[in-house]
Amino acid sequence: MLSSVEILELLKTNDQQDLDWLWREADVARQKHVGSAVHLRGLIEISNYCARSCWYCGINCHNSHLARYRMSADEIWLCVQLATNFEYGTVVLQAGEDPGIERNWLAELVSSIKAETDLAVTLSLGERSQNDLECWRQAGADRYLLRFETSDRQLFEKIHPPLQKSSDRFEMLQQLAQLGYQVGSGVMVGLPGQSYHSLVDDIFLFSSLKLDMVGIGPFIPVPDTPLYRQWHDSLGRAEQVPNTVLMAYKVLALTRIVVPNVNLPATTALGSLDKAGRAEALQRGANVIMPNLTPARYASLYQIYPQKKEMSRDYQANDRLIKDLIIALGREVGRGPGSIPQVMEMPGPFEEPPA
Ligand code: 5AD
Repeated sequence: MLSSVEILELLKTNDQQDLDWLWREADVARQKHVGSAVHLRGLIEISNYCARSCWYCGINCHNSHLARYRMSADEIWLCVQLATNFEYGTVVLQAGEDPGIERNWLAELVSSIKAETDLAVTLSLGERSQNDLECWRQAGADRYLLRFETSDRQLFEKIHPPLQKSSDRFEMLQQLAQLGYQVGSGVMVGLPGQSYHSLVDDIFLFSSLKLDMVGIGPFIPVPDTPLYRQWHDSLGRAEQVPNTVLMAYKVLALTRIVVPNVNLPATTALGSLDKAGRAEALQRGANVIMPNLTPARYASLYQIYPQKKEMSRDYQANDRLIKDLIIALGREVGRGPGSIPQVMEMPGPFEEPPA
């Protein structure tokens, strides 16, 4: 097990031998604990409305230049059908924090997807009420993704202006687990003001929160958001974590080593900044890809950051590209929902009755 001092050193190193060691250890841990399967999860960005004003995000409510959309159930179903055709195990319904996504409307959609397909359903809809989360879980939703973004409380509060009272995402993650969701979380790497020490805390938190999935991506500065200027001013500061792909790979690989039994996606943010990002990530700890199934006319409006792009807007070609990549890397396309098996308390060995 790596100590916090060792993790800190590895985050800061530029020594090629250290890095090669890190990539290799992560790849070995990935193979040993979650095997060679790469699970595919069809991402459907169902709405870009957002009630929040997060300082980093391009779809925050102050962005008045952006046309807003909310997909209808029929439109979402067409994407779900694509996921089934491509034999993905999961669909992820993601949106801004959109009160227009009504509790009962979504519950009905989720329960129809669960009734008519074999897909696992993941929700990623921001900070919703306990009643909403409970209702959607009862409707059959399997997983919920909510990144805690950074364990630095002060930084978190600064960049997430609250709607009413400030939120406690750790409490929400616990509530989600209690409701029976498989829980995903994660962070951005290189937020202005983020320190190396807080990144070490993030990695240990992934472990203590007992997450099923951890999404890790570089912070991508978005012009006209409050963090853009701060990012510019923070460049070169000694304790500032750089928002590079290399730094994101380091956090990914370290997470795989510290928390070996977890699903780690090769995130869209990594793939957007680095053409080889997905391939690299898959060889440095990742075991999940989330191909984007959002219709092109909407995907272009789901601009959480500007460079966000898909390799191709032709779903068929994109699906082929991803599956070919998986095979070329000597891996296999995952079947079924690809959940992390829960470690059960094994009963003791069966005792022979006395003769
Ligand atoms: N750069 C990188 N990642 C971002 N996200 C939102 N905005 C940005 C950005 N500017 C990530 C957040 C969020 C996820 C859906 O997208 O971590 O949880």
